[in-house]
Amino acid sequence: HGTSKINAQGHLEIGGCDVADLAKQFGTPLYIVDEALVRQRAREYVESFRASGLKFQVAYASKAFSVMAMCAIAEQEDLSLDVVSDGELYTALQAGFPAQRIHFHGNNKTPDEINMALDANIGCFVVDNFNELYLLNALAGDKGKKVQVLLRITPGVEAHTHEYISTGQTDSKFGFDLGNGTAYLAIQEAAAQSNIELLGVHSHIGSQIFEVEGFAMAVDKVAGFAVKVREELNITFRVINLGGGIGIRYVEGDTPLPIAQYVKAITDSIINNFTNADYPLPEIWVEPGRSMVGDAGTTLYTVGTSKDIPGVRKYIAVDGGMTDNPRPALYESKYEAVLANRANESVEETVSVAGKCCESGDMLIWDLELPKAKTGDLLAVFCTGAYNYAMASNYNRIRRPAVVFVKDGAADVAVKRESLDDIVGNDVIPARLKQTS
Ligand code: LLP
Repeated sequence: HGTSKINAQGHLEIGGCDVADLAKQFGTPLYIVDEALVRQRAREYVESFRASGLKFQVAYASKAFSVMAMCAIAEQEDLSLDVVSDGELYTALQAGFPAQRIHFHGNNKTPDEINMALDANIGCFVVDNFNELYLLNALAGDKGKKVQVLLRITPGVEAHTHEYISTGQTDSKFGFDLGNGTAYLAIQEAAAQSNIELLGVHSHIGSQIFEVEGFAMAVDKVAGFAVKVREELNITFRVINLGGGIGIRYVEGDTPLPIAQYVKAITDSIINNFTNADYPLPEIWVEPGRSMVGDAGTTLYTVGTSKDIPGVRKYIAVDGGMTDNPRPALYESKYEAVLANRANESVEETVSVAGKCCESGDMLIWDLELPKAKTGDLLAVFCTGAYNYAMASNYNRIRRPAVVFVKDGAADVAVKRESLDDIVGNDVIPARLKQTS
């Protein structure tokens, strides 16, 4: 998919770059990002919303892959940006991303983070709970500012996805609950704060979702709530934010619809609900993360050792693992892969791909069909653009890989490979431990 293909040498090529050359130039493990595909996804979103005639903002959920180069692309593609920590905010600001297009999320923003965002004059805070509402009002007041706010509500929609990434249900750490009246109370409280301008509400039902029904149900609930709030409190929402969550195809059997179809379902549902209620059409905002970058990423590894247990299983080990992709260990996520330097050879055996960390759970793929892999072969694992680099760790003091962006035959480093000095860079041996007597 994207710009990837098999070239005349039988090598995988992405963005016009032979991945065997990339391995030579940059080393492995290596995250390769297909820049054209990221831009294509961004444009699919923007053009689909434009077609609806509604006012909109597409905010890239930077948590999926927050690096400065990605923020620069989001800026160029006219996206907004969703950040959830001072680190993501700093990344965006350092990349020169316009603060007015930044939205700040999170269920436990610290006073320091809120002050940093206030000083930067970001566009909008998505307020998660009462503590934050009062704190934000007070801190904005200290600075003589009035801030634009969305309230995150929990609509009570259960998305069909992994339990750890499902967020719309009542028993969730996020947001003001719609069903028990908390959200209604929060609207009244927000309206009563003098340094807060309430723009509307936010709802995010989960991630890696294939059905449009969950989104349409969320719209119905939010619209019903908006109408009630307008009638009873005379407060009109100018903005409805429906969060992220559109799924991608990781493996055969995953069946997401094209982005345009999700957007159409969402915008049709907004238009129907609000027109029927004689309510001024709100702006619609969304926050896609995975569907913006997920399938644009490929991780390239070198095959090292192998272990054949006759009649049981053959393992091959690569030079990365759960440190660069914790998703199989965390969510039992599935991936597809090929031998990138022998991509046109036929399948000869079934192997399971292990990482190099010191624990048995460090497996990337179970039962993968490949040509007979040898030490030194390159393994390319697909769809690693979202929540891979972003969730990478230094477990076992393994260095985080480099990230390269490829496009039209050019490959440019977006994140340098960590060095061994980076590994000990924050370590300090307290002086008293150095005393020998
Ligand atoms: N908006 C909010 C408020 C969110 O919490 C999220 C994701 C998004 C937008 C973006 O959702 P997306 O379009 O990427 O589905 N680490 C997990 C995914 C956690 C998602 C967290 N929130 C994984 O690797 O599957």
